[in-house]
Amino acid sequence: MAQVTSGLRAVLSVPAVYDLFENVVGAARCRSTFVHDFVRPVAGERVLDVGCGTAAILACLPDVDYCGYDISEAYIDKARMRFAGRGRFFAALLSDHSLDGERPFDLVLAIGLLHHLDDTEATRLLGLCRAALARQGRLVTLDPCYDRSQSPVARWIIAHDRGQNVRDADGYGRLAAGLFARIAVHRRGDLLRIPYTHAIMVCQA
Ligand SMILES: C[S@@+](CC[C@H](N)C(=O)[O-])C[C@H]1O[C@@H](n2cnc3c(N)ncnc32)[C@H](O)[C@@H]1O
Repeated sequence: MAQVTSGLRAVLSVPAVYDLFENVVGAARCRSTFVHDFVRPVAGERVLDVGCGTAAILACLPDVDYCGYDISEAYIDKARMRFAGRGRFFAALLSDHSLDGERPFDLVLAIGLLHHLDDTEATRLLGLCRAALARQGRLVTLDPCYDRSQSPVARWIIAHDRGQNVRDADGYGRLAAGLFARIAVHRRGDLLRIPYTHAIMVCQA
């Protein structure tokens, strides 16, 4: 089973395979519901997307000033091809200096990122997100989430995610505590076509 899981993880690092997998599970509808219910973007806003992957979220955003970061060169290449002219894309680990001349942002997104990071890395990254935000800005995150009431199938799928740091809703909230004045964590079990639970965190400076 461990070999199957690690094989699947390797295959998913290929952008085209990742996109195909996302189509099957209904990721496009998930994104548009997430944007409609939680992100509520406004045209013209300055948006930082950390761990942007192939920047698929851009298909659901109005005309915003978009800046995407991801550590995967392959994902960023795909983002540049698909969304040329819609934003700036950087294949790099986000650091304090990398945002010089770019901040402040009205909106910071971290979609499917925190569950890839341990507590130390996640807290460092959330600190950078907080520092990148304008005074009235917000951070919105989306991640898989453990929940006592979820089905065993959802729990199994989530436990086999590539991200090794899936938390429950309170666990995600704890990462942001002390960094943000207002933190709301929502649970949703209806965003994908498959049994799955998400935690959505909305933080305001
Ligand atoms: C599950 S994917 C989500 C991609 C994209 N946000 C989306 O919604 O399709 C997680 C992404 O986080 C990126 N990633 C992982 N660790 C990262 C880090 N420390 N800094 C930036 N990106 C990271 C991975 O390369 C991957 O593209």
